[in-house]
Amino acid sequence: MNEKAKHRKSVVVVIASIAATGGLLFGFDTGVISGAIPFIQDYFELTDSQVENVTALGLIGAVVGALFTGRITDYLGRKKVILASAVIFATGAIWTGMAPTVPQLMISRFYLGLAIGVSSFSVPLYISEIAPTKIRGTLVSLFQLLITVGILAAYLSDRAFADNSNLESWRPMLYVGVVPALILLIGMIFLPETPRWLMSKGREELGRKILARTEDPELLDTVIAEMKKEIAIDKRQAGWKEIFKPWLRNALIIAVGIMFFQQFVGINTVIYYSPKIFLSAGFEGAEAAIAASVIVGVVNVLFTIVSLFVIDRLGRRKLYFIGVSGIAAALICMGLGFMLPGAGKWFLVISMLVYIAFFAISLGPLGWLIITEVFPTRVRGLGSSIGSLSNWGFNTLVVWTFFKMASAIGNAKDVVIPEGKVLSDVCPTCVGSVFWIFAAVALIGLVWGYYFIPETKGVTLEEIDAHWRAGKKPRELKKQREM
Ligand code: BGC
Repeated sequence: MNEKAKHRKSVVVVIASIAATGGLLFGFDTGVISGAIPFIQDYFELTDSQVENVTALGLIGAVVGALFTGRITDYLGRKKVILASAVIFATGAIWTGMAPTVPQLMISRFYLGLAIGVSSFSVPLYISEIAPTKIRGTLVSLFQLLITVGILAAYLSDRAFADNSNLESWRPMLYVGVVPALILLIGMIFLPETPRWLMSKGREELGRKILARTEDPELLDTVIAEMKKEIAIDKRQAGWKEIFKPWLRNALIIAVGIMFFQQFVGINTVIYYSPKIFLSAGFEGAEAAIAASVIVGVVNVLFTIVSLFVIDRLGRRKLYFIGVSGIAAALICMGLGFMLPGAGKWFLVISMLVYIAFFAISLGPLGWLIITEVFPTRVRGLGSSIGSLSNWGFNTLVVWTFFKMASAIGNAKDVVIPEGKVLSDVCPTCVGSVFWIFAAVALIGLVWGYYFIPETKGVTLEEIDAHWRAGKKPRELKKQREM
């Protein structure tokens, strides 16, 4: 690589890393609440259902945030929307931390949720539009990497501030979120708008200038020519109507579908269930919870780093098939681990870590990457917000139905739960069976992926657009030139 190419690469890596702080906030603010909740509950003397409301309001905020800002991102630009989310993240962290009453805590969690929903699609969208084609996958995966770092940081912040003699220790846990929010806010002020959005608004000069700083010189002219072609084909500002048109049907199925499989293989229930699994492997009480969060968190971060190196080499399809096959096999083993308590406990722990590793190299980063790749510029904001919205909706649905599924299986077996026990104490097979349901979903995901996962590696965003316009199938997409 010559000096100029190296310089160009470091510029985009810095840009992408600053923007990816939005991922850190996503991971941190969704993760931090679990350690804060026991203190919040004691401090405000909340009932369990009030606790559920506080947690759920954050998620509802994320859904609302993703739902209403997709079009705004297409109108106002990517940068302004990310800046606005950074302001909400910073003020939301202070507001939730200071909340004097329960209603204020709920409203402030909802407010913070809005920023989570907005940043979860606008940040990967921003990176994907500013990234050079060759390393677009790697750069967008930085977003997922920072989500996993955020989850780990939330856990560490919870641990650092948890103090049983101080009922208000939840406040500093939440204040910590201000730091990454300020990094995002200050950093974004200095970052440019994406060349693609500028060009789509007719600001060609500036768009070209920014693109010249980031894109490969060999690809520069092609990309600009393709952007112009795309703009010439359709000058209208498109919206909801456009996105439901037949030529974009596959893009929509891909965005919603990949988020369906990302969530319905049960990632958040596995993370949620990890302390129990460690408990069954012989770790004790609090020790089990700590071991689970640290080990799961670290494996998650490490394997997301692996994905950065392979996503633009192996390509999206290969990574998807390797990852989802591994996820299915690991889920089958986890189910088995529950069926064979005693002998199966270490088997269970290892299968769970293997599961996390396969998720981290595939569905984790691929979900957020693909939703930003499959839509044309004019509706890319709206399209990826629909992907993000699906993610939050499915996430809520899976977590909400997990215990219901396990108890339905328990009821069918006439399991009676004695006082002070939980279902998995008396019926581990009930929980194990749910992991088999997730495994079945993963297997269906393999078939779905064969038809719908497009190989976007090395393909410019404009070529993807042209592919849909030509009415071609997702699996027929491939790069058109050697790079
Ligand atoms: C998912 C989250 C999940 C996280 C785990 C993300 O891609 O969207 O639901 O908790 O990965 O690393």
